[in-house]
Amino acid sequence: MAAFLVLFFSTWVFFVHGIPVQGNPIPLVIWHGMGDSCCNPISMGAIKKMVENQIPGIYVLSLQIGNSFVEDVENSFFLNVNVQVARVCDQLAKDPKLQQGYNSMGFSQGGQFLRAVAQRCPNPPMRNLISVGGQHQGVYGLPHCPGESSHVCDWIRKLLNSGVYTKVVQDRLVQAEYWHDPLNEEDFRNNSIFLADINQERSVNKSYKSNLQALKKFVMVKFLKDTMVIPPDSEWFAFYKPGQSAHIIPLQNSSLYTEDRLGLREMDKAGKLVFLGVEGDHLQFTHEWFNENILPFLH
Ligand SMILES: *[C@@H]1O[C@H](CO)[C@@H](O)[C@H](O)[C@H]1NC(C)=O
Ligand SMILES: *[C@@H]1O[C@H](CO)[C@@H](O)[C@H](O)[C@H]1NC(C)=O
Ligand SMILES: *[C@@H]1O[C@H](CO)[C@@H](O)[C@H](O)[C@H]1NC(C)=O
Repeated sequence: MAAFLVLFFSTWVFFVHGIPVQGNPIPLVIWHGMGDSCCNPISMGAIKKMVENQIPGIYVLSLQIGNSFVEDVENSFFLNVNVQVARVCDQLAKDPKLQQGYNSMGFSQGGQFLRAVAQRCPNPPMRNLISVGGQHQGVYGLPHCPGESSHVCDWIRKLLNSGVYTKVVQDRLVQAEYWHDPLNEEDFRNNSIFLADINQERSVNKSYKSNLQALKKFVMVKFLKDTMVIPPDSEWFAFYKPGQSAHIIPLQNSSLYTEDRLGLREMDKAGKLVFLGVEGDHLQFTHEWFNENILPFLH
């Protein structure tokens, strides 16, 4: 994940014509992806800088989960997501600069984590939620995890295979917490401690629904040539038809939508869901694409 950003960002020029805005710009909270950190100068650090150049005076908070960059990276694999979300909620609630509201932008797994923040923690209010390659129906495969050559990824795959829905794995492995096995939907529903909860698979928490619906826009960016997320359709909240792993059903045909357990159908009708597609592999986009398609949601 970090690797491509090197390629892309190193060729970018961070000078752009800032769009003048009246008053204080709406702050932005960023949550990085798996194996990344808040402040890596070639990934989130570059994004933060880019946004700051585009929107003069904006307060950008790129979340660091833990007390150091190294801990931040480790936690993206091994710190229970429910704990991470609670910590972030606490941090946002205490940040004086965010009290009037903020926009948020999550990269990869950071996309679904920020959705959990929106659903669980309405104060301070999130305005727009931008999910950049987030997996809202989870993943069923981890083909290229960052640092593929390292032992970490092999070990993670082993854990996922050995008992993804056991309590010991669920409590400790982040990627297990949004693992969605379409061949074992009931296991997923009963035992996924994170994704099944925020997707209202076990029961409907009305405040999850009303909190999500309080968003102005929920923007979902899908990478049309994504080889890292299986299935990429999850980035638009779509997933395999239950019981098999070949056919995808769009969000609009899912029970989540037709029963409107999360309020997505109402949001869709109200024009609050924005589905963007970008040519390219996971998290690959150009400066121009970002300015044209994402920047408007940050004002
Ligand atoms: C619904 O979610 C809120 C926010 O996380 C939580 O405080 C509350 O206990 C949940 N309600 C139920 C019925 O689970
Ligand atoms: C899921 O939970 C229900 C209700 O507790 C139970 O009847 C069922 O056997 C569980 N299924 C699996 C696969 O764990
Ligand atoms: C989704 O639903 C529409 C309308 O009910 C139907 O025409 C379409 O075939 C469905 N698509 C899939 C992939 O299930």
